[in-house]
Amino acid sequence: MSRIRSVNAGQIYDSRGRATVEAEVVLDSGARARAGAPSGASTGAHEVAAFPTGGVPAALSAVRARLAPALVGLDAADQVLIDGTIHSVDGTPNLSEIGGNAATAVSVAAAMALAEERGEPLWKVLARPGVDGRRFPAIVGNCLNGGRHAIGGPDIQEFIAYGDDPDPARSVQAALRVHSLLGEELHRRYPTAALGRGDEGGWVAAIGNVEALELLTNACAKARDELHVSVHPGLDLAASEFFESGQYRYHDRRLDTEGQIAFVTQLVDTYGIRYLEDPLDQEAFEPFAKLTHAVGDRTLVVGDDLYVTNASRLRRGIDLGSTNAVLTKVNQVGTLTDTLRTVDLARSNGLATVASHRSGEVPESWLTHVAVGTGARGLKCGLLGGERMAKLNELLRLGRATEHTFHAR
Ligand code: PGA
Ligand code: ZN
Repeated sequence: MSRIRSVNAGQIYDSRGRATVEAEVVLDSGARARAGAPSGASTGAHEVAAFPTGGVPAALSAVRARLAPALVGLDAADQVLIDGTIHSVDGTPNLSEIGGNAATAVSVAAAMALAEERGEPLWKVLARPGVDGRRFPAIVGNCLNGGRHAIGGPDIQEFIAYGDDPDPARSVQAALRVHSLLGEELHRRYPTAALGRGDEGGWVAAIGNVEALELLTNACAKARDELHVSVHPGLDLAASEFFESGQYRYHDRRLDTEGQIAFVTQLVDTYGIRYLEDPLDQEAFEPFAKLTHAVGDRTLVVGDDLYVTNASRLRRGIDLGSTNAVLTKVNQVGTLTDTLRTVDLARSNGLATVASHRSGEVPESWLTHVAVGTGARGLKCGLLGGERMAKLNELLRLGRATEHTFHAR
């Protein structure tokens, strides 16, 4: 038995400079691991609470005074029991006593300590049936930011390079190349404008949605020609952020739900979009189904705020045919077990999963292992900045470890 000897937590800062939680789990064998939790900005209405009232200090006290005594003595190999204990100690449906971030940090640190003890990579500890560590996720790489991640830019939150070569090193290279080509073109078009980067490392520019999409599409085409690799445009609209009183409110237009479905369908066809996240409001299960029916044969339609990694919300989406893919963020739902339940439900119903970072990240790489272990179709982790690079570089390492016999997804 891999008995837990101690559980502790401390404060660290995320990539936005905001306080968050990291946890340390030590086993009787001496194996130990630390994991930190990220934080979102465009959070879904149905996510668990990231922190209890009282913020990080309250989360740390809850871990030390309430969670640690309940977890010490448990078997680190029993993730379901560990995560169930986190929920029962918290006692609320939305983890508001302990907070999703502390729950995530402890849950992941326990799995990492077990991996450490076994001398195995984390992805193996998390591996779903049939996952062999030779199928790698596509890169969902944010190249240009708008919405809540870059005030003053486009309404659409993320303009994405979707690199889906079976070789992860080529997918990473392709997405990075799109990012850099896009920056060069922005600089060429607006030589005197200040060119910044948003929370996830994508460019920020005071341009509209259509111009941003054109730039992205051209950069993808150029990267494909140069590198002979599959890389295509993607979007995360984060549409709940600009949906108000029944209307999708862009700077230059207001659309009702039917109008939004038509507009997005046209974007998919005009620009060859292959990754489409949150194109509609987080309660719009039926309209999502209509859109997926229209475009789901040529693009992933991904629910983020729609599902918030929650298995019951995903169940509803599966029953209605709302999407063909689900984004997973561990701290949206609280623990690894909750996340794996959602992943398993998706996999058994033929939906793709995409393992995702948050806009405020920690410079750690456990997310990459979640992606590989869950057989995710995509890894969404941004492209620039040490906290994003940590995850991409880990994917390169896992790719090298397979001795280059990649299996197609
Ligand atoms: P976040 O959102 O700011 O909540 O991390 C990113 C996303 O919408 O995918
Ligand atoms: Zn999103």
